[in-house]
Amino acid sequence: MSSHIEPVDPAQQRLFAGLVTGVDLTRRLSDHEVAGIHAGMDRFGVLVFRGQRLDDEQQISFSRQLGPLEQATGDIAAPQDRRVSMEVNDISNLDKHGELLPRDDRRRLFGLGNQLWHSDSSFKQVPAKYSLLSARKIPASGGNTEFADMRAAYDALDAATQREVHDLICSHSQIFSRAILGFDDFSDAEREKWAPVRQRLVRRHPITGRLSLYLASHAGGIEGWPVPEARAFLRDLTEHATQRQFVYAHVWQPWDLVIWDNRVTMHRARRYDPMQVRDMRRTTLSNEVSSLDQAP
Ligand code: OGA
Ligand code: MN
Repeated sequence: MSSHIEPVDPAQQRLFAGLVTGVDLTRRLSDHEVAGIHAGMDRFGVLVFRGQRLDDEQQISFSRQLGPLEQATGDIAAPQDRRVSMEVNDISNLDKHGELLPRDDRRRLFGLGNQLWHSDSSFKQVPAKYSLLSARKIPASGGNTEFADMRAAYDALDAATQREVHDLICSHSQIFSRAILGFDDFSDAEREKWAPVRQRLVRRHPITGRLSLYLASHAGGIEGWPVPEARAFLRDLTEHATQRQFVYAHVWQPWDLVIWDNRVTMHRARRYDPMQVRDMRRTTLSNEVSSLDQAP
């Protein structure tokens, strides 16, 4: 059976989230299948695969077929506390023994930053290209993931705002996004490791040529602007970019795998009951260059 991609929601999300059928990601893919996934990503920005019973090794080898991976250096767990290898981001509420993290655990509180709109690894000099999130265990309710289309959001800006944002450079850090939630429990080493990096506010997709707003709650300033003015503007842009007409809400089923392109989308987790297990694993493709090299 050959793979096929159609819109997840033909009525509302014509060109934003695609549903892929007829492909088994536990096996090595043909070059043709790999090319089909890249083409689907360029067209949609988010692809949903159902019923993919991947373990970490299978997820890593599938991800590597799409491009080079980044390491999970944005995680806050100490090396001896990690449940998964450095190729995998642990998007769960569990410790390494599989027990639920206590409500006030620092790793859990840090992880709540995922509930703010963001683009993965925008706080790294070389940020993320695709993220691949596999749902191993999900809570009975809640815990959706929402995606916003930053190409459509850019296109919908008025011309004066498009001109204004065209060449702006933002500074991104996980310290900024966590400060929004009042989380400041960082060691000196973490503050140093996550010192702000520069990213363009508007970037061009190297294949499609489309422009998108490169926003994230990690963005805490705009070069040359007073901080409060920059943050007020970034907040307005985020409010604009995350209006419902730009958003696809993914309702997870166990063994879903969702891939998104961090160059053209933002995403956020939604709340769920902290007494229920939610075990998701993320592999992440490196963008290989900074957004500074993807000028419009
Ligand atoms: C991520 C992330 C959202 C979620 O994996 O990068 O932000 O719903 N996840 O868990
Ligand atoms: Mn994320």
